[in-house]
Amino acid sequence: MLTQPAVIPMRAEAGAPLSGTAGIPGDKSISHRALILGALTVGETRISGLLEGEDVLDTARAMRAFGAEVNDLGGGEWVVHGVGTGGFAEPDRVIDCGNSGTGVRLIMGAMATSPITATFTGDASLNSRPMGRITDPLALFGCQAVGRSGGRLPMTLTGARDPLPVRYELPMPSAQVKSAVLLAGLNAPGETVVIEPVATRDHTERMLEAFGADLTIEESGGGRILTLKGRPELRPQAITVPRDPSSAAFPVCAALIVPGSDILVPGIGLNPTRAGLYETLREMGADLTYENMRDEGGEPVADLRARYSPDMIGIEVPPARAASMIDEYPVLSVVAANARGRTMMRGVAELRVKECDRIDAMATGLRDCGVMVEEGPDWFAVEGRGPGGVRGGGLCKSHLDHRIAMSFLVLGLAAQEPVRVDDASPIATSFPQFEALMTGLGASMGREDIE
Ligand code: S3P
Repeated sequence: MLTQPAVIPMRAEAGAPLSGTAGIPGDKSISHRALILGALTVGETRISGLLEGEDVLDTARAMRAFGAEVNDLGGGEWVVHGVGTGGFAEPDRVIDCGNSGTGVRLIMGAMATSPITATFTGDASLNSRPMGRITDPLALFGCQAVGRSGGRLPMTLTGARDPLPVRYELPMPSAQVKSAVLLAGLNAPGETVVIEPVATRDHTERMLEAFGADLTIEESGGGRILTLKGRPELRPQAITVPRDPSSAAFPVCAALIVPGSDILVPGIGLNPTRAGLYETLREMGADLTYENMRDEGGEPVADLRARYSPDMIGIEVPPARAASMIDEYPVLSVVAANARGRTMMRGVAELRVKECDRIDAMATGLRDCGVMVEEGPDWFAVEGRGPGGVRGGGLCKSHLDHRIAMSFLVLGLAAQEPVRVDDASPIATSFPQFEALMTGLGASMGREDIE
C-alpha cells in the first residue's frame, strides 16, 4: 500500500534547444490491461516493456491480492501466472489503487462477476472521482456496490454469484467503462454487448482477441458495437507493450515550442484511437513526422521526429477527435499558447472528471502565466501569444495530476520567465523518468528547495 509521496516542487525555464533521442516508457493503458488479463488467464503471461509507474505498480499489487502471481524479472520484463476467468480470490486487505482511475475501474469490472467482496480506495484525487459510471453497469450483472456519497471511493463491491450477461450503451465516451463491462462479461454466461456511440481506445478489445476471447466488433456511425461471448478459455500471451503516445506528447510538444529543437522519439504507439494529438499538431503546422511506421505486438508504431515549429497557428479541434486525444488537451493548450491565434477545444466535458478538473487547472495556471483562456462546461479556448510570447512566471498547481504537472513544466521551457509547479510528485504515476529524460534532451528544469 502506498504512503502519501513527499511534495516535489519543480521549475522549468527557457534554455538550450532540445536535441537527441527520447526513450519513452511503456503505454499505461496497455500495461494495466496486460496485468489484468494475464491475471484472468490460467498459465504464464509474459509482458515486456511494462510501464513501471506507480499507477501500474498498484495494479500489479492488486492482482497479487486477488490471487495471481505477478513477478518483476527486471528491465521491464514481467511474468503473470493467472487464476482464470472467475478465479479471483477474495483479497484479505483493502485494494489501494493510488491515483489510478483506470486501475480501479478495470479491476472492479474484472471482479464484478465473481462471488467475492473487495474494498477499494485511492489517494485524495481518486477518492473524489465518480465511480457510479462503473457500478451502474456492473449492477446489471448482479454486482453490488456500497461507497461514499456521490458514488465515490472508498467503496466495497460484492461480485455477482450468478451473473447475467448485459447489454449496455455507454452514456459517455469512456474506455474505462467499456473495458470494465467487457472484463465483467468474461465471467457471465451468454453474450455481453457494449454499444459505444463514440469510438474510444480499443486496447481491451485488441488484447481480448489476442488472448483468444470470442469478440465481434461492428462499426456503427462513429461508434462500435462489441459482442463478447462469456466464459472463454483464455490463452496466456507474450505481450510487448508499445511506448506511450500520451507520455511522448510532453517531449514532442516541448520540442515544437523551444527554439532550435530537433528530437527523435522512437517506437511510439500510434493506435488511431490514441493518436489525435499528433494529427491536431500537424494541422496547426507542427514540423512533426512519422518515420519507420510498423506494427509491434498488434499495435501500429512509428518513430516521431519533432522540430521547433515557429509557424504554428490556432485551430478549432474537431470535437469528434476528442476521445482519441482526451489525455492530451492539457499539453495541447500549452502548444496553443505558443501558436498564433485562438485554439478552440470543444466536446471535452470529460476533462472535468480526470485526476483533477483539467480545464480549470490549465485555465488557472495559463492565466497566471499571462495567457488568456476562456472556458465553459465542455469547452475551453486559448488565445495564442505566438512563439516566445508567453510571459510565464506563475506558480502553477498540479492538483495531484501528473499531466497537469508535466504540461506546466513544458510551458516553462518556452516562457519569458520561469514557471514553477507546486508539486511534481504525481508525475511518478505515469512517467517516472520524465525529469531525467527532459534534462537529458537539454531542458532546463529541476527540483526546487522547499522554503
Ligand atoms: C483510459 C481511458 C481514459 C483516459 C485514461 C486511460 C484507459 O479515461 O483518460 O487516462 O486506459 O482506458 P476514460 O475512460 O475516463 O475516458
